[in-house]
Amino acid sequence: QAQYADLIVEVHGKTALIRLNRPKALNALNDNMMNELGDALRMFDADPAIGCIVLTGSEKAFAAGADIAAMVDYTYADTYRDNYISRNWEHILKVRKPVIGAVAGFALGGGCELAMMCDFVVAADTAKFGQPEIKIGVPPGAGATQRLPRAIGKAKAMDMLLTARTIDAVEAERIGLVSRVVSAEKLIEEVLVIAGQIAAMPTSVAMMVKDAVNRAFETPLTDGVAYERRLFQAAFGTPAQKEGMQAFLAKRPANFDGL
Ligand code: CAA
Repeated sequence: QAQYADLIVEVHGKTALIRLNRPKALNALNDNMMNELGDALRMFDADPAIGCIVLTGSEKAFAAGADIAAMVDYTYADTYRDNYISRNWEHILKVRKPVIGAVAGFALGGGCELAMMCDFVVAADTAKFGQPEIKIGVPPGAGATQRLPRAIGKAKAMDMLLTARTIDAVEAERIGLVSRVVSAEKLIEEVLVIAGQIAAMPTSVAMMVKDAVNRAFETPLTDGVAYERRLFQAAFGTPAQKEGMQAFLAKRPANFDGL
């Protein structure tokens, strides 16, 4: 297993668990951590034994945002030259397998944005989401002004972005930022169950579903539906379709191993 300075990675069955691990800084996201996260995500995405990836933090913080200490003295030239925030933050968007965010404690600024880059988020009842960037003199830089209104609507997004208020797990679920809330003590256990269910599905089909849903945010409806239909038709050329439908008709469990 690869060793990282700022991550802990584990494999549970067909699920990869990636834990952000800079506890002293509440998992503030610095360059090294984002580089390592990119490496780990690429490795697990390419590993045929993995069907689902879980990204989590600690009990106290998923991540308290981009590392303010690391960026306080940046100049515009530095940020422009380094393509700051985009360069090593967006590997997660290239991952083709399902990625679940498991959030306990703070998911603030870039932490909330990173959670929104996951396919869906399961929150512990201790989770707190917010975009406090305005309080430190910058707008968000990793997608919040775009992903938050798409996720929760303009009114809620503007409220969070302009007042910097944090919302709790109950509100986050009510407004659709997270898919489920579970007790903090059981967060990882419960998310690993969900990930195990996904990993038992045919991975190729899970990838198609993810691809098609993400397409919905980039295309007009008619084009998105046409794209979905083509994937549906293409699925008839895969062993997963034969196994899934034949197993149903034979009243036996489907076996999607390796599919
Ligand atoms: N960057 C760097 N260090 C951070 C950090 C961050 N984003 N968030 C917390 N830390 C550090 C603190 O500096 C502190 O370090 P020391 O012990 O060395 O002083 C340590 O983590 C613990 O933090 P606190 O003592 O502040 O803990 P708390 O429980 O009192 O407060 C908190 C927790 C409310 C999360 C508070 O730490 C906080 O407000 N953090 C900053 C949140 C923020 O503004 N995030 C947005 C960053 S900008 C961004 O993300 C840009 C983007 O869009 C990509």
